[in-house]
Amino acid sequence: MKICVLNLSGNVGKSTLAVHLLAAFAPTSRIVSVESINASNVNDVDALDVEELSASRFKEIFREIMLNDDVIVDVGASNVAAFMTEMTRFKSAVGEFDLVLVPTVPADKQQRDTVATIGWLHKLGIDGKRVRVLFNQHPSEGLEPVEVTYAQVAGFAATDGKGKAVFEPHAIVAMNEVYELTKSSRKTVMALAQDATDWKAARVEAKRAGDLVALERAMAGQMAHDLAVTAQENLAEVHALLFPASAPTTAIRSRRA
Ligand SMILES: Nc1ncnc2c1ncn2[C@@H]1O[C@H](COP(=O)(O)OP(=O)(O)O)[C@@H](O)[C@H]1O
Ligand SMILES: [Mg+2]
Repeated sequence: MKICVLNLSGNVGKSTLAVHLLAAFAPTSRIVSVESINASNVNDVDALDVEELSASRFKEIFREIMLNDDVIVDVGASNVAAFMTEMTRFKSAVGEFDLVLVPTVPADKQQRDTVATIGWLHKLGIDGKRVRVLFNQHPSEGLEPVEVTYAQVAGFAATDGKGKAVFEPHAIVAMNEVYELTKSSRKTVMALAQDATDWKAARVEAKRAGDLVALERAMAGQMAHDLAVTAQENLAEVHALLFPASAPTTAIRSRRA
């Protein structure tokens, strides 16, 4: 499957979702990060192989998209304008994507940019069924309706946005600190959730040895693991919603041995 993660705004979770929602479930995918070199944070996971290309090298990006059957393109905010310009020059490029995922977050500016992104994709002529809005950083999943937290996007969905993107059933990714924690661990949320370290035993041992550093590590490890399990349950649900036909993948493999 060929997927592009796009939004005119930065900080909507494009890179986060490209890794933890898309790549973690399809570890053999080619990941193309359209970003100025080394500005990407998709590279932060050791098990994933990421190609960084700036939008000025669009022909190479287009080649990657055409050559690979499974590709995830994460368009960074620094390159999104240039990327969009190139997509209007190479008119068939957008048609290569099975799915364009447009994450949004509750902040006003990001919601406005989400609406603009969907409008722009529509103008490019992409089928609205292939454009999927993802409601990210939901403060309390399930408790507050999408119509309230993401009022601008929901309003657009009910009016001008009709047919330009798929909004429902709502794909909601909850706010979870674990996405920040993964940056230092360089692992996916999936890998952290599957980590079998017995933190309780480690804590007992650290206490016995009077090792305060190890004790702190064991407590932090337990909390990070719990958060990862919660986040992974959420991601698995959202993944099943977006890709109903695909079989669940449990293990993450490195692309390069
Ligand atoms: N669901 C979430 N819960 C908590 N933090 C998140 C979530 N999604 C993204 N973030 C954080 O928000 C920031 C922006 O995410 P990022 O993926 O870099 O956005 P983009 O690629 O769109 O600029 C990062 O620090 C990331 O860890
Ligand atoms: Mg990014």
